[in-house]
This record gives sequence, C-alpha cells and structure tokens, in this order.
Amino acid sequence: MASYLIRHTPKLSGEVEVSAAKNAVLPILAAGLLSEDPLIVKDVPRITDVDMLLSILRDCGAHVQRSGMDVSVCAMHPQSPDHEENMRRLRASILILGPILARTGSACVGLPGGCAIGQRPIDLHLRGLQALGAQVHAMGGMRQLSGRLTGARVYLDLPSVGATENLMMAATLACGVTVIENAAKEPEIIDLANCLNQMGASITGAGTGTIIIRGVERLHGAVYQPISDRVEAGTLLCAAAVTDGSVLVRGARAEHLRSLLFKLQETGVGIRETPSGIRLTGSAVAPFEVRTLAYPGFPTDMQAPMTVVALKCRGRSLIHETVFENRFMHATELSRLGARIRVENNVAMVDGGTPLEGGVVKSTDLRAGAALMLAGLMAEGETILQDPAGHIERGYQDLPEKLRSLGADVEKIEDRL
Ligand code: EPZ
Repeated sequence: MASYLIRHTPKLSGEVEVSAAKNAVLPILAAGLLSEDPLIVKDVPRITDVDMLLSILRDCGAHVQRSGMDVSVCAMHPQSPDHEENMRRLRASILILGPILARTGSACVGLPGGCAIGQRPIDLHLRGLQALGAQVHAMGGMRQLSGRLTGARVYLDLPSVGATENLMMAATLACGVTVIENAAKEPEIIDLANCLNQMGASITGAGTGTIIIRGVERLHGAVYQPISDRVEAGTLLCAAAVTDGSVLVRGARAEHLRSLLFKLQETGVGIRETPSGIRLTGSAVAPFEVRTLAYPGFPTDMQAPMTVVALKCRGRSLIHETVFENRFMHATELSRLGARIRVENNVAMVDGGTPLEGGVVKSTDLRAGAALMLAGLMAEGETILQDPAGHIERGYQDLPEKLRSLGADVEKIEDRL
C-alpha cells in the first residue's frame, strides 16, 4: 500500500515544471484508434491512468509504443476489448467507444470506472451516439452499439467533457455533418479537436458551446504536443498558498486558470503571470465563497485543494460542489487533522484560521489525495497519508518529488505501515 510521510513545511519556494495534462492526453491517446497511421503524442506523463489506458488500447488491437516521454498509437483493425473488466479501472476507458464504433460500425464495452466522486453515468455518451445512428443494447454491465454513423444535430443535457470528446471523435468519420450543442468548453476539448484536425478531421467551434464536425473518409497520423496540466498547476499553486510560499509554476497557462487565479487573489495571495508560467506569493488569509461549474467556471477538480486553502483563511469559507454528487470525502479526512468543516447539501462550510495537527489520513480519490498532501504540509508535526488505491500516482507525475524540489518535507514510504 502506498503511503506518504509529510512533515510541516513553513514555506515552499522556487520553480517547478508542470507536466502535460492528464485529461488532454487520455482522450488524445484514445484518438489513436481512429487512424491506421501512428499518432505520436509528446510528453505523455508517467501516471498509472495512462498505463491503464495504453493496456486497454492494446486490448483493442492498437499498436502502442512508448519511447521515452513519447507514445505512438495506431490501429489497423480496432476491436472491442476482450478484457472488459479493465474498463472499470478508469473513467477515460469509455473514450474508446466513439473511435471503435466510428471505425468498425460495432462496439461492445463495459461500464467505465473512475474516482467514486459520483455515480458517473454514460447516458449522454450513449444518447449522443444513438443520435448519430447507433443502435444501443444493454447486456448486464455491457453496452453493445452497432450501426454506420451519420452526421446529426446532438444536444447534451449537461456540458459533459467525456460525452463531448466521445461524440467529437465518433463524428470525425460519420457520413455528413454533426453539430454538438451545449458542448463542454474545457481547454482539453480544444486540445483534442486540434489533434484530430492535425489527423485530417474537420472540426470547428471547439471551446464554444457549439462544435461542428464534418465527417471525412479517414484520418491519418500526426505528431501532437498536448497542453500543460491546469489542475496540476493549480494544485502546485495551492501548495504555495497554504505554506505562505513563493513559487513559480513553469508551463502553467493563466488563460486556462482564470477562475482559480481570481479566487486565489481574493484570499490575499499575489499572482503574477510571467512568460514562463505563473508565480504565487504570500498568504491566503481572507475567507471566500466559490461554486464549481463547467468551464470556464471554477473547476471541480480544484475543489479539494481549494478546501485546504480555505483552512488557511481566517473565517468561514463556503464551497459549493455543483458538478459531482459525492466530492467532499476529503472533508472527513481533513477533520482528522483538526479541520473544522461541515458539509450540508453539497456545500462545505470551512472555518479556517486555526492550526492543523498532524495525524493519519486516507486518500479517497485523486484530487482528495493531493489535497491531503497539501494539508500535511500545513499541519504541525507529522502526517501519514495512506493511499491504498494509488490515487495520487494515477493522476500526478512525481508530485512528492515536485513538492520536495520546492522545499517540502514529503516522502513516499512503502508498505511499512
Ligand atoms: C472529466 O470527467 C474529467 N476526467 C474529470 O476529472 C472532471 O472532473 C470532469 O470531466 C468535469 O470537468 C477526464 O477527463 C478523464 P463529465 P467526465 O462527463 O468526462 C454527469 C480528475 O480528477 N454525466 O463532464 O466523467 C456526471 O455524472 C477527473 O482528473 C451524466 O450525467 O465528467 C457529472 O455529474 C475527475 N451523464 C457531470 O455530468 C453522462 O453521460 C460532469 O461529468 C456523463 C456525465
């Protein structure tokens, strides 16, 4: 079982480089199923979610090769995965559905997994593919889809990131024009569209609520450099904020983090955008209110780290989680360190400004795990963060090492506990 020993760290300081975005890289790797020629993705982070997806892509008949930080994916004859149980190991596994259906006219997949932050249904994915002409049959935990795809106008009840990505990929090879209304606008959507267009697709409007995809005969290979990870960047900025530090996060793009930067400035920290990244200095002292929303609203993936920032602020902060129904599991764990947090109807009331005491806490999901690591830096004494499911290494490349390079006293301790 992975565990981390974290000791109080007065101030983080220095510079740290952010990795490529997990939530851009995963759909882009799945897009490799759309092409017989190799899609080469640069700077693919060494995280276990990537390893798991690459294993699923191989199971789908793709040729996958990692060379250093670059990964090549292509598929002469894509097929549905034999080992559907692997689908449960991550949410992004559902992103093989659109490409396989578009290439072969048939796909049979299991339901995806992912952090237990909500029920995580795939109804929007399935209804969207039905609108493109697919027949959908449920067989226990499996979904069998079949049919040649034809362009159509699709309306998403919710601006779902994954459904937008699945439909965009499927529509690239559909016959005719597809319009996705109420599409997700995240930077990762734009990144996927840019990659698909480099592969020969014809997509416009990515980043707006209306995306237009003109179907083409086939896609070809490309070499693509994904965007930097705005959630990792935000997590590192929050680490600086909770230790009154001064940190430059190199590669962070302010235009992808506007809502977070404004909220952090509200707490009293200084934010400076530089050509190489974003620098945060100073202390978070003023309480705030924030609600998570689809992009460009405040990102739900930053809710847990921001809860720890609220613990620094002197007074009551209110944090509304509007995207997922069960994303406050870190509150209970933070209470073990003396945090005063009450959660009612998906609103966390955080009474910050009192010191935290080190203790033993457990990671409940990816972003909660990172938040608890930040809390350990803030808490007096020593904190043991147990991470039996390996959440942190699923989504952050070398987080302890990156924090240590800034002066943090954190180390991974194997199964000694
Ligand atoms: C993506 O998940 C990200 N994961 C999540 O990041 C992120 O929190 C989320 O988008 C929102 O930004 C990846 O990109 C791999 P959604 P996704 O579909 O696509 C509901 C992390 O920590 N919904 O936008 O699964 C859903 O239940 C992870 O890196 C349906 O009801 O998110 C949720 O309430 C966590 N039906 C809301 O929409 C559907 O068919 C948003 O989900 C699909 C979604």
